[in-house]
Amino acid sequence: MAKSTLPPTVLHELNRQLNHELGASHSYLALSLWCAARNFTGFASYFAKQSGEERTHAEKMIDHLIDRGAVPEITAIAAPNRDFSSLLDVALQAQAMEQANTKGIHAVYEAALAAKDYPAQVLMHWFISEQVEEEAWCDEMIDRVKAASCAGSLSDLDRHIERHLAGDGK
Ligand SMILES: [Fe+2]
Ligand SMILES: [Fe+2]
Repeated sequence: MAKSTLPPTVLHELNRQLNHELGASHSYLALSLWCAARNFTGFASYFAKQSGEERTHAEKMIDHLIDRGAVPEITAIAAPNRDFSSLLDVALQAQAMEQANTKGIHAVYEAALAAKDYPAQVLMHWFISEQVEEEAWCDEMIDRVKAASCAGSLSDLDRHIERHLAGDGK
């Protein structure tokens, strides 16, 4: 195993954030199950896909650590919230998660800037752009759920939510 080239502060931040991404994957799965149990199959599918994407985010960071001679430390993941009063409540939870995730991503980037760690800075550029998209999706989802106030409109929205938020093939 090669000697790690990572500054300790960056290693710490990347390790913290990759576990945060795994936690986000867990939380999105809980949102998906809440929706599936209430026959919001479109939202369930969308959140399940998000759960998978959060896992790939963790894996990107894991690969970076491994490539640079560090061993990622996987921590325990807390049980996600599963008590929601409405689909809007679920959408707000997703938005709060993404906002917290953006803060975490920025904290990694700030550590990489402070340590003049250029490889980690380039890695984080992808995540910074990704978070702009993810937050935009959440904002749009909340607007659409608010607009679909009656049950008939909500089930219509459910049928099309993936097309609205992610486009075909995403
Ligand atoms: Fe993520
Ligand atoms: Fe995300």
